Amino acid sequence: MRSLSGIQPSGRLHLGNYFGAVRQYLQLQAEGHECFYFLANYHALTSMQDKAELEELTTQLATGYLALGIDPDRSVFFTQSDVPQVTELCWILNCVCPVSMMEKATSYKDKVARGIPPNMGLFDYPVLQAADIVIYDSNIVPVGADQKQHVEMTRDLAIKFNMTFGETLVVPEAYIVPEAAVVPGLDGQKMSKSYENTIEIFQTPKQTSKRCARIVTDPTPLEAPKNPDTCNVFALLKLLASPEETAGIAAQYRAGGYGYGQAKGRLAELINELFAEPRQRYAELEKDPDRVHDILREGGRKAREVAEATMERVRSAAGIVTHR
Ligand code: ADP
Ligand code: TRP
Repeated sequence: MRSLSGIQPSGRLHLGNYFGAVRQYLQLQAEGHECFYFLANYHALTSMQDKAELEELTTQLATGYLALGIDPDRSVFFTQSDVPQVTELCWILNCVCPVSMMEKATSYKDKVARGIPPNMGLFDYPVLQAADIVIYDSNIVPVGADQKQHVEMTRDLAIKFNMTFGETLVVPEAYIVPEAAVVPGLDGQKMSKSYENTIEIFQTPKQTSKRCARIVTDPTPLEAPKNPDTCNVFALLKLLASPEETAGIAAQYRAGGYGYGQAKGRLAELINELFAEPRQRYAELEKDPDRVHDILREGGRKAREVAEATMERVRSAAGIVTHR
């Protein structure tokens, strides 16, 4: 089974990215599946047009993925822009994609509502994502719930292509784990760099504690019983604590006498424990950006080979004559 996923280098990695996506990348890698993970820099360009920032965030995201455990010996780890075939496939898929399908994309509408200029790249974003997925004959796509519609569009486009030109493309499936489908941010909305409500992974323990202290809670006094099921701090604690500890904390919430401050302190401790080693690895790798780029170069070479083989099938199926 082949697993593929990407993250845009448009911000710094946060707990939503980890629990919603990267943890599943690592699990699939550990289970020995064929894995393709990449930095979606062409996607980032749809909403972020600052050369220095995009370059810097691309290196940072690559460093982060590696520090978290993406292993270039077991996964093909690369940059989207090292596989030009993907933009070629995007064009071909554009030609079988009804405009009405893109008009239904909720992420496009959300982004425009947030003030991102509606350029053609932003509108076409899901078709490029479909190309990213089908070009590697991917079977499963580990993502958070916000990407579900994009994977469904990918399936529709692959089926549409196959119906038009004959069986050529593999139809993929989203892999979404229910307990981390939508990780809440400081304000209880979905954690997202666009909402400035994130807890970042690669911060100092002190910065993590400060972010945790800012999680919004209700004004129930310390002594009063509390409902864990409506608490933002508890929603995050559940992702990190063992089942026994989670049950114990829930009981303390319900009994009263347990404050949100205590829960936030424990949450920060758990985050700092979980990411202690990745943070050390990040600090080491950060000193050696050439190594990070060498890994990406090698991953790009492997990814291009697979992508070119798919494109030969695709061009031939669609009657696109080339002389190379
Ligand atoms: P952001 O929303 O911060 O811009 P991205 O769109 O770059 O994050 O997301 C990269 C990956 O992380 C995607 O698979 C996405 O579904 C997942 N992800 C991001 N935020 C969350 C969240 N709050 N809960 C679950 N998954 C998330
Ligand atoms: N749209 C995804 C996000 O914002 C990033 C992405 C681009 C992606 N291409 C992909 C995710 C292919 C999975 C598969 O998070």
